[in-house]
Amino acid sequence: MSLSSSTEEETRFADQVESTLSATNQLLNSRTAPHYAAEVMSGIRAVSAQVSAGTTPCTGPTPESLHHEVSAIDLDHPLSSPADALAEVERVYLRDAVYFHDVKYAAHLNCPVAIPALVGEAVLSAVNTSMDTWDQSTAATHMEQHLIQWTAERLGLGDDADGVFTSGGSQSNLQALLMARNRLHARLRSAHPDRPPRLADVLGGFRIFASDVSHFSVQKSAAILGLGPEAVVVVPSDGQKRMDTDALEREVARCRQEGLLPMAVVGTAGTTDFGSFDPLVRLADICGVEDIWLHIDAAYGGGLITSQRHRHLLAGTGAADSVTIDFHKTFFQPVSSSAILVRDRAQLEHVTYYADYLNPPGGPPNQVDKSLQTTRRFDALKLWLTLRTMGADAVGALLDEVIELATGCAGSLGAMEDFDVVVRPAFSTVVFRYLPPGAPDETADRINQQIRSELFDSGEAIIGGTIVEGRHYLKFTLLNAETTMADVKEMIELIRQRGSHHLASEAMHHG
Ligand SMILES: Cc1ncc(COP(=O)(O)O)c(C=O)c1O
Repeated sequence: MSLSSSTEEETRFADQVESTLSATNQLLNSRTAPHYAAEVMSGIRAVSAQVSAGTTPCTGPTPESLHHEVSAIDLDHPLSSPADALAEVERVYLRDAVYFHDVKYAAHLNCPVAIPALVGEAVLSAVNTSMDTWDQSTAATHMEQHLIQWTAERLGLGDDADGVFTSGGSQSNLQALLMARNRLHARLRSAHPDRPPRLADVLGGFRIFASDVSHFSVQKSAAILGLGPEAVVVVPSDGQKRMDTDALEREVARCRQEGLLPMAVVGTAGTTDFGSFDPLVRLADICGVEDIWLHIDAAYGGGLITSQRHRHLLAGTGAADSVTIDFHKTFFQPVSSSAILVRDRAQLEHVTYYADYLNPPGGPPNQVDKSLQTTRRFDALKLWLTLRTMGADAVGALLDEVIELATGCAGSLGAMEDFDVVVRPAFSTVVFRYLPPGAPDETADRINQQIRSELFDSGEAIIGGTIVEGRHYLKFTLLNAETTMADVKEMIELIRQRGSHHLASEAMHHG
């Protein structure tokens, strides 16, 4: 071995030791705890500075420019200090992120986040509790259960209710439909004890009923559960975008006549686009008579359990077999935080499986027995701190404000002759389009899409969009109580300016 190669090797070894040491210093333990606090504080300060300085919901980046910037980063070569790494994150992420707390962010079902929940987020990820078993979570299991009982009680689900936190509304809906599927299969097996049918043999006949404005995760769940594309029977909604319950009854009867097996009805409490509430009491009656699993997707509307003024919109939920509630929509919680609740805790056994190493039967209360997940975050801590700091009434008051805002917004738009509003909002979304008198639908379709994407590109406002009866509409999803009617009017004016500009240039082009 030459002298020069040995020196190179020593240098490499020294570098390795150095990097091993610094890597160990990056693991949280009693020795590094002060360093941890300082580092996390610098991340928090970076966000705080960005939020303080921001005046628009976004800078309006393009996917191309961001892809270029991000993919140029060499992940094989770390930067020389945490400060440099954070500065890089400020440049590539924080600068061009979308800020849901901005008063002109009104696109999707994202909320500004409650500060107590952010404290919870910092605490839960540092302790890194995993909720699957009691021996990894101790008090956290009891805190989650306490919150589940609190939620179940407010939903009116009764003393036998139970549930578990999930990663989001889609997962909650999936778990609900999995339980409904397995209950129906179990019933078929008990009805035919001599020749109990295999799941695969009966699955093709299972049917789920959901309205034409229910969330697409119902279809996705059906596919995941092996039910096939025709398994979801789409029930029309009425003029207010609520499920037409007469049509539901007709569809259930038709399916039975055809030898199909009604598995579940999904009622929505707060539809994604319109915020409409299906007639939940009526759905409960129908499902009671027909003996069908009733799942209520209250991912959006569930927050109203905190509202003194609008809680009545959830009447009927207590009779459901299962309920989805998304804390990361209407409880001002950071992503993610949701729960699935059941009226009869025995139904959760449909997701109970044992692993010798994890949760042998007869042990302490292991939440994994109720969950589709194994390792699972202690998201409940965020809600815990929110309720213990702000209280449920304060959450409800924020929701009351956004409902008032949506009502005012729809009223203003309805009074303008160049705007068309689909329905009077029951909750906090407004679906509308720029449609000056005489403008053909095709022109309006084009212009409304242009308005939405131009507003995003300018960074001035971020608004939603959807399709209603084949036509392109715009949508305000209002979840920010800081947004005032003046902000909403400014957004309407931005829309009108861009719309009239495009209309005039189209007229010039064609004239
Ligand atoms: C009514 C409804 N259900 C379910 C979901 C899915 O929730 P998540 O995005 O948390 O999976 C949404 C999301 O917008 C929703 O509006």
